[in-house]
Amino acid sequence: MVGEFVKLKRRGANYLGLCPFHGEKSPSFTVSPSKEIFKCFGCGKSGSTITFLMEHEKYSYVEALRWLANRYGIEVEETEMSDEAKAHAQTADSLYIINGFAQKFFAEQLFETEEGRNIALTYLYERGFTDSILQKFGVGYSPDVRDAFSKAALTNQYNPELLLRSGLVRSYHDELQDNYRGRIIFPIHNNSGKIIGFGARIIGKKENAPKYINTPENEIYVKSKILYGSYFARHSIDKNNECLLVEGYTDVISLAQAGVDNVVASGGTSLTVEQIRLIKKYTDNLTIIYDGDNAGVKAALRGLDMALEEGLNVRLVLIPDNEDPDSYVKKVGANAFKQFVQDNKKDFILFQLEIMLRDAGNDISKKNEVVNRVADSLSKINKAEDFTKQQEYIKQCAAILKIDETGLTTLVNKYKRDSVAKQEKNKAFEDQVKEQETIESPDVFITDNDELQEKNILRVVFEYGLKPFDEHQTIADYIFNEIQAFPFDNNNYEQLMQLYETQYRQGLQPTTKSIMYLLDNKMQELVANITLSKYELSRQWDERLGNTKKEQKVLDKDVSLEDAKVSLIYFKLRKIKKMLEQTQAELDQSKVYEEQLKLMMVYKHLKDEEKNLTTELGAVILK
Ligand code: CTP
Ligand code: MN
Repeated sequence: MVGEFVKLKRRGANYLGLCPFHGEKSPSFTVSPSKEIFKCFGCGKSGSTITFLMEHEKYSYVEALRWLANRYGIEVEETEMSDEAKAHAQTADSLYIINGFAQKFFAEQLFETEEGRNIALTYLYERGFTDSILQKFGVGYSPDVRDAFSKAALTNQYNPELLLRSGLVRSYHDELQDNYRGRIIFPIHNNSGKIIGFGARIIGKKENAPKYINTPENEIYVKSKILYGSYFARHSIDKNNECLLVEGYTDVISLAQAGVDNVVASGGTSLTVEQIRLIKKYTDNLTIIYDGDNAGVKAALRGLDMALEEGLNVRLVLIPDNEDPDSYVKKVGANAFKQFVQDNKKDFILFQLEIMLRDAGNDISKKNEVVNRVADSLSKINKAEDFTKQQEYIKQCAAILKIDETGLTTLVNKYKRDSVAKQEKNKAFEDQVKEQETIESPDVFITDNDELQEKNILRVVFEYGLKPFDEHQTIADYIFNEIQAFPFDNNNYEQLMQLYETQYRQGLQPTTKSIMYLLDNKMQELVANITLSKYELSRQWDERLGNTKKEQKVLDKDVSLEDAKVSLIYFKLRKIKKMLEQTQAELDQSKVYEEQLKLMMVYKHLKDEEKNLTTELGAVILK
């Protein structure tokens, strides 16, 4: 049972694995299947199946019982559950059933109807997908009809409220209409194979229509915890002791079709901690395979910092020539693809090097600086047992820098001698960190409190969420997209943001009023407080920002866009400041050079991000 949550290896009568309750490198978590108990010799946690579920899955006692009962087909009385928990569980169960029905409906439309075959299946064949892989992943098609699915669902007695909640339909003039019309449907499975939601892709390209429509957050679809394809990939990830990460649904399916099936997708955004922990249950080795374009690289970088913090060995492969994994595997074939991945795996340090180099461009002096910095860094790998590793790094770095290997070795040795001579083992490194610190910290107003910024961004969403940000998206779209990498500190604010998002994604055009209606007294008070908080922050900004803003106030212009942008930047700056502090603290603690190097890279990355935001801020304010 425990093996469903933790990766375990057999040791005699018992199983051994990494303890899920504390971070550890070597396994001390022991499970005895016959006795149905577990114990960790590292942190001392121990207990039964039930306590495991309660601790690890954060189930309540009743939920844990219920899970076990479900697993082994036993009926349990549910009278002990609170009404709220009961309602939640019931909704979740109903949503699974609706999604299961929908998946069958869409698959049938794809394979058995004329429209499906002519429009969707033809398109999928053109892209090289086979029947069997499409069937394995449960791919389907939603006909280009106003209410084909809605009708089928209502005929089958599904509850309209729940249908709305599933995101499959929307309500229009008191009637249900299909949300994914004329789209290819990719069902998303959880780790036990149940369908938690869908990604619906437009066929071809259309103006003003999003490429994908995804299920809104609900009882079972929690975006930050989803790794697309993990249900089909987990055994292979375990077997290969490696997880490949790509961006899109089609990448996963194409690779699986080519026989590379230890692959999951993050959905085009940067990795969340939850996703990283999910991966860590199966393997320590993550290989990110992204296309070489800028957005992909940036997303990869963001996920990387966190992955390192969680102790994953991260490697990166960039797919060349504007291809993505899907198109590339189809272009070069399965074997060449595997070979390419093998040959082009880069670790964090090398990847960063490439980025620095790209930034340096053709500027000779900048490139020189990069070479020196790399040599300096490599000189710090000076433990005897790491000699081969250093050699390997030198070789690879030299190749990337297009410089002579022996030349780089000489330079590395020079740095090594320098630092030994000074007998300051970590001095150069400390200097670099100090240098980072002395770069003027941005002269902006950042409160010392995340919650204030969280509250403010919430205010913006409530106040102008529905207004257009540009011709493609609303301010709400923009903000949801931008903040997803940053966890909220305040639970209530997070809940409110999620509530708004859910409502919004269902096309309900939420307002402060309509949201209030759904809340209890305490939360209502909070919302009122948030919407009134405008003056508190903006007054402080006005003082801070001087005259530029006052003029606008006099003219009483629509400042929603500016407000949204500025608020978002402050929000991010605050989050980054905190991450910087954390990284700094970890740096102070760390004694291992390689770890320090990684942290330094993280630190630098954050600093750069901070600088960009400050520049952006200036641009918005002074415009
Ligand atoms: N995505 C999304 N919404 C969008 C665009 C992308 O949710 N409007 C997510 C999807 O999960 C998608 C992933 O980001 O799979 C990667 O996006 P992209 O590369 O554009 O799509 P692909 O899945 O590769 O689709 P295709 O190959 O058909 O272009
Ligand atoms: Mn693609």
